[in-house]
Amino acid sequence: MLNSVTNGRPNTAMAAFSGRLPKSDIEAVVDYVRVVLMLPATSGISGTKAHGGQGSQASEGMTLPFANGLTGDPVRGQKFYMANCATCHGIKGDGKGPRAYFINPKPRNFIDKNFRFAFNRPAIYTAVYDGRLGAEMPAWSKVLTDQEIADVSEFVFRRFVQGKPAAK
Ligand code: HEC
Repeated sequence: MLNSVTNGRPNTAMAAFSGRLPKSDIEAVVDYVRVVLMLPATSGISGTKAHGGQGSQASEGMTLPFANGLTGDPVRGQKFYMANCATCHGIKGDGKGPRAYFINPKPRNFIDKNFRFAFNRPAIYTAVYDGRLGAEMPAWSKVLTDQEIADVSEFVFRRFVQGKPAAK
């Protein structure tokens, strides 16, 4: 990864950053990608646990709970999702809700493997809480309680990441 960021990748849009960033910044950004974005996925490759259903590649990181001891109620989360999130992220979580057509960047596709292998409960919670600057992803901490954010995150996690029904 250090090599890819430093020298770029030939014949792709991935540019070399060696002339633009000091080595220490390149190392920092690679650390960030590995620890924050890739760790749950990479630890799943060696430590794959039988989980049943489509979530069978879930790793240790995938069982992490929410912070603050919160437990999400996926049934309440589902109601909220269908009323407020599906318009962009789609009923199936594929990022193809009716509003998706009009916005850029496009809403995250939750059933894509790049999302499913990288997002566990705390990661989803943080993404919903903070929103995305520069994208039309609202910071839901402005309008939801922490419990409500845990509820909707639990729903997204179960239904789209693990591929399970909300209630079981
Ligand atoms: C107005 C459209 C819109 C609505 C409504 C919306 N989102 Fe998003 N969401 C986005 C967009 C756009 C992105 C992707 C931004 C990007 O590519 O960086 C995103 C990204 C995300 C991500 C991933 C963040 C990441 O770092 O990749 C999560 C999780 C998420 N949304 C959850 C939700 C939940 C849960 C709701 C409902 C409470 C919701 N979103 C409502 C547009 C929306």
